[in-house]
Amino acid sequence: MNWERRLYLAAHPFAYPLLRGVARRGAIVRVPGVGVVVNDASLARDVLMDGETFRKDGPGSPGDLWTPVLGPSVLLNMEGDAHRALRRRLTDLFVPSYTEALCARVLAEPLDRLAGRLASGAAVDLVDAARVLAGAVIGEVIGLDGGTEAAYRDLFEQGERVVSMVSLRTRRLSPSQVRRARAVLDPLGDIAAKSYLTGDESTVMGRMRALGLSEDEARGAAGAFFLTGTETVATLLPRLIALLADHGLLARVAADEALLGPAIEEAMRVTTPTPVMLRGVHRPATVGGVAVRPGDRVLIATHNCCRAHGPFDPD
Ligand code: HEM
Repeated sequence: MNWERRLYLAAHPFAYPLLRGVARRGAIVRVPGVGVVVNDASLARDVLMDGETFRKDGPGSPGDLWTPVLGPSVLLNMEGDAHRALRRRLTDLFVPSYTEALCARVLAEPLDRLAGRLASGAAVDLVDAARVLAGAVIGEVIGLDGGTEAAYRDLFEQGERVVSMVSLRTRRLSPSQVRRARAVLDPLGDIAAKSYLTGDESTVMGRMRALGLSEDEARGAAGAFFLTGTETVATLLPRLIALLADHGLLARVAADEALLGPAIEEAMRVTTPTPVMLRGVHRPATVGGVAVRPGDRVLIATHNCCRAHGPFDPD
């Protein structure tokens, strides 16, 4: 059994075998209580490219799950013109030169400490390190001042608790889950709003204000970045290193930056930090021969789509 499978089984002892079992039943399968599950990359692409029929807002969509917690304008629950407009404004913000400088600034000190420990031959827990690093970057994006490693660990755990409220079957969070999620996200929104109102354009929130985003959009973006940007990175980073080490490629990739991009892409495919994507069906349609109707949920099993293309092979 490979490590990815072992990890997924440990994390999701019931959902993972179900998801892999569904892959054996065909490219697209209706699973009662869950939705229509897509296991094939080209069908997944068809769904993702048709944002009119398969939506992130409306019944059965990610909006059903997250709008009560994050508000209506946080990209991951938006479609159409409003989505395109917000994406465009954020693209102006997250240009590579800006994100590279932000990461270099925030990560210099923790990476120095990590390098020091490695150089002295000490054991390093890469999972913990990745959580702290991801937490530090998102903390900076939100406008958190002077966070400690302990604070980032705590932030990460709080995010994990919110994300783990959602299972394959969850259509909506219960009122008490919404309350608990908001208890985590509202204080982060307050921090983001404070930074937004200060308007310092060297901060992400200050730049959002300069780009014409409203305070609510900045608040929502902070919550969305926190939910989407911590666990994903902290899942990928240690597995990327482990895959390279297991395949005898770590030294080669570390020595040649041109190999790093393909290695990251291949590690993303094999580890699939976002194993499932959700869309709500807005109008009657047929996908891969399966009829879907308004209110249906389509679950794109990214993990199944990606695993169909074989084991880790960055070459
Ligand atoms: C290994 C790292 C990451 C992976 C594999 C990843 C993967 C993905 C995927 C597959 C989606 C599409 C989901 C869907 O359409 O249903 C997505 C959306 C999104 N991600 Fe990431 N992500 C990563 C890191 C991040 C980070 C660091 C941030 C923010 C700082 C972020 C913010 C977002 C946002 C805001 C969306 C919604 C975009 C939209 O709907 O327009 N992600 N991500």
